[in-house]
Amino acid sequence: METVFNSGLVAIGGFTVLFYFLKFSWKFWCGVRVYVLSEYWKTDLRKYGQWAVVTGATSGIGRAYADELAKRGLDILLISRSEEKLHTVAREIERLHGRKTRVIQADFTEGHAIYPAIAEGLHNLDIGILVNNVGMNYVGTLRFFLDVSSAEKRITDVINCNILSVTQMTRLVLPHMVEKGKGLIINVSSEAASHPQPLLTLYTATKIFVTYFSRCLNTEYSSQGVTVQCVAPFTVSTNMTQNMTVNAFVKSAPDYAYEALNTVGHSSHTSGCLSHALQHVALNIFFPGWLRLSPFCVRQMEKICNRRREHYDNIQEGELTIKKKQP
Ligand SMILES: NC(=O)c1ccc[n+]([C@@H]2O[C@H](COP(=O)([O-])OP(=O)(O)OC[C@H]3O[C@@H](n4cnc5c(N)ncnc54)[C@H](OP(=O)(O)O)[C@@H]3O)[C@@H](O)[C@H]2O)c1
Ligand SMILES: *[C@@H]1O[C@H](CO)[C@@H](O)[C@H](O)[C@H]1NC(C)=O
Ligand SMILES: *[C@@H]1O[C@H](CO)[C@@H](O)[C@H](O)[C@H]1NC(C)=O
Ligand SMILES: *[C@@H]1O[C@H](CO)[C@@H](O)[C@H](O)[C@H]1NC(C)=O
Repeated sequence: METVFNSGLVAIGGFTVLFYFLKFSWKFWCGVRVYVLSEYWKTDLRKYGQWAVVTGATSGIGRAYADELAKRGLDILLISRSEEKLHTVAREIERLHGRKTRVIQADFTEGHAIYPAIAEGLHNLDIGILVNNVGMNYVGTLRFFLDVSSAEKRITDVINCNILSVTQMTRLVLPHMVEKGKGLIINVSSEAASHPQPLLTLYTATKIFVTYFSRCLNTEYSSQGVTVQCVAPFTVSTNMTQNMTVNAFVKSAPDYAYEALNTVGHSSHTSGCLSHALQHVALNIFFPGWLRLSPFCVRQMEKICNRRREHYDNIQEGELTIKKKQP
């Protein structure tokens, strides 16, 4: 009886070890393929169509995507708020990569009203790739949901910019892609969406919308030749992140876009680059969802952000006194 019991245990133990061994080997292989081999095994992005549309294309990650896509042989349609920045970036792309460009000026916080004009601008173009990049923070730092000025406007802006933009832009380009039987839609989500994150409440909630939307859409339309990829960057040095210094953890936007575009065809949901993928794994182990949601953790984060806010308010007051002195 005891020996049967023991060999039963050994068998269970053996299967468990084998299961985890196979699971981790598979994950490791996927990681190597997506983040290392993809550099030598790139998907030809021109196969999707002639034009790539990038929202929020004049700075940061969006601009880097626009540059990299032009380098890989696509014509670029840029969308963002500032007409002036749009023309500067468009000229730069034409000069550097010799591709055609078009621009559409639109403010995604304005909601439904802007999409007829965008549809007009996209009309008759062979659009192969859409990069849904535009996105904004609720506030610059960690804050309680109610702890912002003009919350009503802010909430509408964030939802229009982060959620409505993705769904409406997808609606505009998807029919043509389905008709052709090919297309690529890239949605820029965020690492912040991998777990619910208190004090970034609205931002993480909008980004998880993007993640789920992309992943489900990918399943719905992959059989019709349309690939939907969701990229979830960690920290990229851009205007949004106060131009942080680039290091092993923080990517520059051009490096990020280069690596992230290599992963197309290899992964439909990715951190975009090796450094961010490793940070994602580490964070899942050392800062799991239950810890983020614990009252203890929220209290600690609140302390940190109060300290930062004092610092920030001091700076603002400093600026004010300087301004007052000037005249
Ligand atoms: N940077 C990071 O570490 C990081 C990490 C995770 C996720 N993300 C996500 O990556 C995306 C891009 O972030 P980023 O860091 O590159 O930001 P960024 O440097 O601030 O660039 C934002 C771009 O979007 C345009 N834009 C902003 N608001 C707009 C609006 N209401 N309507 C139209 N265009 C608008 C801006 O141009 P105009 O000023 O001309 O409009 C600019 O081209 C966002 O979705 C963000 O959530 C970033
Ligand atoms: C992501 O891509 C899919 C694919 O078309 C698109 O439908 C969706 O609106 C995009 N946005 C987000 C946030 O996932
Ligand atoms: C950076 O952000 C500030 C404030 O959000 C904005 O006024 C400025 O134009 C941005 N700069 C660039 C290069 O996008
Ligand atoms: C980041 O750098 C850009 C260009 O170098 C500059 O226009 C922008 O104002 C900087 N943003 C911040 C927040 O320092």
